[in-house]
Amino acid sequence: MRVLVTGAAGFIGSHLVRHLTRRGFTVTALDDFSEGHHQALPPHLEVFEADVRDFNALTRVFSKRHFDAIVHLAALTSASESFEDPQRYFITNLLGTVTLLRAAVDFRVSRFIFASDAAVYGKPRKKVVHESHPCVPISPYARSKYFVEQMLADYWRGYGLSVMALRIFVVAGAWAEEGVGESHRLERHLIPNLLKVALGQKDAITINGTDYPTDDGTAVRDYVHILDVCEAFEKALQVPCERPTTLNIGSGRGHSVLEVLKVAEKVTRRKIPFRKGCRLEHEPSHLVASVDAAAQLLDWHPTRSDITQIVADAWRWQKKHPHGYVEERSRQRRLFGEIVVELGFVTREQLNEALKLQAQQDAKGEHKLLGVVMLEAGMLTP
Ligand SMILES: NC(=O)c1ccc[n+]([C@@H]2O[C@H](COP(=O)([O-])OP(=O)(O)OC[C@H]3O[C@@H](n4cnc5c(N)ncnc54)[C@H](O)[C@@H]3O)[C@@H](O)[C@H]2O)c1
Repeated sequence: MRVLVTGAAGFIGSHLVRHLTRRGFTVTALDDFSEGHHQALPPHLEVFEADVRDFNALTRVFSKRHFDAIVHLAALTSASESFEDPQRYFITNLLGTVTLLRAAVDFRVSRFIFASDAAVYGKPRKKVVHESHPCVPISPYARSKYFVEQMLADYWRGYGLSVMALRIFVVAGAWAEEGVGESHRLERHLIPNLLKVALGQKDAITINGTDYPTDDGTAVRDYVHILDVCEAFEKALQVPCERPTTLNIGSGRGHSVLEVLKVAEKVTRRKIPFRKGCRLEHEPSHLVASVDAAAQLLDWHPTRSDITQIVADAWRWQKKHPHGYVEERSRQRRLFGEIVVELGFVTREQLNEALKLQAQQDAKGEHKLLGVVMLEAGMLTP
């Protein structure tokens, strides 16, 4: 089965493309690298640098390859940020998805798996949420996910596209052996931030809300291991899917922020200081998945989502990659690249090509200066 993974260079995508390739799928990656990293992708993977909002770019990709299925991960992902610039979120997450769906229909893709978010539930009435729980999304981000879920049913009805939405809870952990983990330019997730404090990169963690109606006053969330999430996507690609389906993907267990902090202290054997911050308006006190439906429909059972294992795997990766995907070096490369483009020595297309070549060489452990890569590729002359 040939699968297009959008947002492939991001946290979930970089793990998923490896997982699916190992399981025998033919995988093509698509990303605009606005947040994703070239270094996060395996060297021999087919990669298209394209924006899901750009129908012409998608047409070029889909004209070259036929895809049996699409896993759509590409999105802007911060609920807090989406309040400040809702339009950006709707244009990428809604319009981008409509544009991708249009290409999927035009080019006769059979199946569309969408990365939705548990945030669609808003502030649920129940501590453990089943898929039938009412959705009252609070942030523009969560609304964009919920609108797409609604649209998918129309694409199924109108065009016979087989559609599934996975409502993912908090993904964490890493696949340290494969050299991939979580690395965002602005890290908002709890576990990587706790580990940054353990590494001495931050002096303390701010806990947003210590007066929730929970046992210790901090918010309770469901953390699911990235490799369990990959397994869920794999199964979603394979099961018969005759009706639009929406499934929770979580561990089925809840942990408070303070509990996770204590686990992180134990795993890292370091003290993690914290300060108390205010609650975030859109955050519920509890958000924990009922995973019975995924177990039944996908025969999916999270096996690595014990919180200690999640934190330990994330720690192994973060200790080895304290600055993520060598951001500092890539900033310097971009600066060098901008200068040679500005001086007219190379075109922007050549610069992008050289950065891609350099990332592929990096992944093989051959670290070369961008100028050297350009010289070797014949873009620059000595
Ligand atoms: N990580 C989680 O805990 C979590 C939880 C629930 C849902 N999700 C959803 O899963 C998906 C992946 O999340 P992630 O954590 O890997 O996020 P991420 O930010 O690491 O990855 C998103 C990727 O999408 C790419 N992208 C953004 N806009 C694009 C565009 N217009 N065209 C092409 N590519 C674009 C980015 O460059 C990035 O590589 C998202 O849709 C997110 O909403 C994630």
